[in-house]
Amino acid sequence: MTRWTQDQWTLRMATTSYTVAIEPGGRWAELVAWGPHGVEVGPSPLQNRGDIHFITEADAAPIEYAPRGERPFTGADLEIDGDSWLTFESGAEADGVLRLSFVDEVAGLRVVLCYRPEAAVDVLSRWVEVTNLRDEPLRLARIGSAGVCLPVREPRLSFLHGEWAREFQLDHVSLPAGGFRISSSYGVPGHNHAPWLSVDDTWGVSLAWSGSWEITAEVEPSGLTRVRAGMLGPVVVGPGETFVTPELALAYSTDDLSRVWHAYDRLRSRPARKPVLYNSWEATGFEVDLPKQLELARIAADLGVELFVVDDGWFVGRHDDTGGLGDWYPESPDFGAFVEEVRSSGLEFGLWVEPESVSPKSRLYAEHPDWVYKMDGREPTLIRNQMLLNLGLPEVYEFVTSTLDRLLTEHRISYLKWDMNRPATERSGELDDAHVRNYWRVLEHLRSQHPHVLVEGCAGGGGRTDLATTGMVDVVWPSDNTAPLDRLKIQQGFLHMHAPHLMSSWVTDAPGFFDARPRSLKFRFVLAMAGVLGIGADVRHWSAEERSEAAALIARYKDIRDVVHGGEVRLLNDAVQYSAQDQVVVLAWNTGSLTGVPMVPGQSSRVRLRDLTAESYVDEDGQVYSAAHLTHVGVPFDWTASNDADVVVLRPA
Ligand code: DGJ
Repeated sequence: MTRWTQDQWTLRMATTSYTVAIEPGGRWAELVAWGPHGVEVGPSPLQNRGDIHFITEADAAPIEYAPRGERPFTGADLEIDGDSWLTFESGAEADGVLRLSFVDEVAGLRVVLCYRPEAAVDVLSRWVEVTNLRDEPLRLARIGSAGVCLPVREPRLSFLHGEWAREFQLDHVSLPAGGFRISSSYGVPGHNHAPWLSVDDTWGVSLAWSGSWEITAEVEPSGLTRVRAGMLGPVVVGPGETFVTPELALAYSTDDLSRVWHAYDRLRSRPARKPVLYNSWEATGFEVDLPKQLELARIAADLGVELFVVDDGWFVGRHDDTGGLGDWYPESPDFGAFVEEVRSSGLEFGLWVEPESVSPKSRLYAEHPDWVYKMDGREPTLIRNQMLLNLGLPEVYEFVTSTLDRLLTEHRISYLKWDMNRPATERSGELDDAHVRNYWRVLEHLRSQHPHVLVEGCAGGGGRTDLATTGMVDVVWPSDNTAPLDRLKIQQGFLHMHAPHLMSSWVTDAPGFFDARPRSLKFRFVLAMAGVLGIGADVRHWSAEERSEAAALIARYKDIRDVVHGGEVRLLNDAVQYSAQDQVVVLAWNTGSLTGVPMVPGQSSRVRLRDLTAESYVDEDGQVYSAAHLTHVGVPFDWTASNDADVVVLRPA
């Protein structure tokens, strides 16, 4: 960090820098420059050079954080019960964090803008600490984490939207004027939008908040684009207390933002093995019959699977989705022996839980009706026939933690799938904060007390995918939709936001539930190999040929797994390239029409590669390619109806 003058600082990330200054009157902090190292030397591209009419000076400034009052027309980051104007107090750096402190003596609050640059990646984390200086509670109706002005007049925004079973649809919109907003009020990040946005494929933000949120982008009268993000309020801060907002990560790339986000994910993830799993949900649903599960496990083990996960339906009263949640005891007295049998076939064992939920038909609800979100005198809203526990309550936190401790101690479990199948209702935003922070505390508890247990994050598919969750779990389930062509689109969207080592993906039966356009077994495998491979099909019905093809593909995946999980990714058209020091792996899928070759004349389809560092490469058949060939002509693929996806491994020649 460089302090240029008394009131200007340059924060240095891996290859980029972010320079922030206090405006001469000490009224706010403003952005001077953000880009590759050295970009701050020269006149600021954000500085207003014109006269100001009909708005305030603050409205035209590249302001970093503004309360309502101070910036009356172009949108505020902080809204209290009245208007507020801040005055700069001090700026100091400690433990890698720059803290710029402002106070409003009249309104009775202190606001500290916090900046933590990452030295290893091009990400800057920002958040705000708001202290209540009054002797009565301070209600924050809006509480943003950060805002940032970009020198762009007509931004092209990229975002991820969808719904259940159609998450992570990448889309773009150009904004000549006005505003754009994505959000969730579900109490989780939700399926409708991911808390992630990029501008002109150069600047990106991602919010580390596992509750309700909003991100906006506005074209301001000054000609700047301002992006603002934060949790949804309201938040009440007690007298003398300090509220710390969630972190907003800001990324910059001159090349490819997804690579910055992947590097950041790798930095935030613990090193963990990612076993090939089998999950029996799609095969058996709620009918968790232990002999049948064992049969599935044994077949899976023969295929080369390393972990067997029993999903929903294993506990008392859970015969369908109307009962059982909350009573986390196995239905069968033989469950313990079953776990050991699975393990003795050479597999690790994993279990599904939905700790925050409770069924009306459960012992837990009968004993603790006051633990759920509901309003006095009214029946709670049911979604998927279930209610939600108020995890923000200390007693619910204790219940969830001790339940998980008990399960993980009583059985040799090495994988936990944490699901959540309904959004929050009957709770005001004020409860969101305590719920989310206790959800994080449970995840931290699992990491510290059961470090050998891998955790999969899931909320009816990809409903709880945010930067905070992905930093605390080992893998996430992006969607319940595993139908090949839908899944390809979901995964390509997901990989813009998050890295492949976090992306769980299963091979399921074809046709599946959703997309009636079946693809070959190989297509489905290559698709699931793009992240963390799993199988969800009913393998009991696979023929001997299918099983042997599956075994070969699992073995192939194990050979490329490290490169897929640790390599640099390029998202190409219907292909993904993963590059490591000594290997380039290309996964490709044919989604278009066939050329007709060999029945009629024609050429191979090609996938052009990027960033090759060696002069030439050789594939596993001994074919040599120059880097120029691979870059400008491409890897050849000869697609047929049965050869509709492939894996190519290239090594420097
Ligand atoms: C939703 C999840 O996304 C599925 O994978 C499965 O675990 C079901 N819940 C079980 O109820």
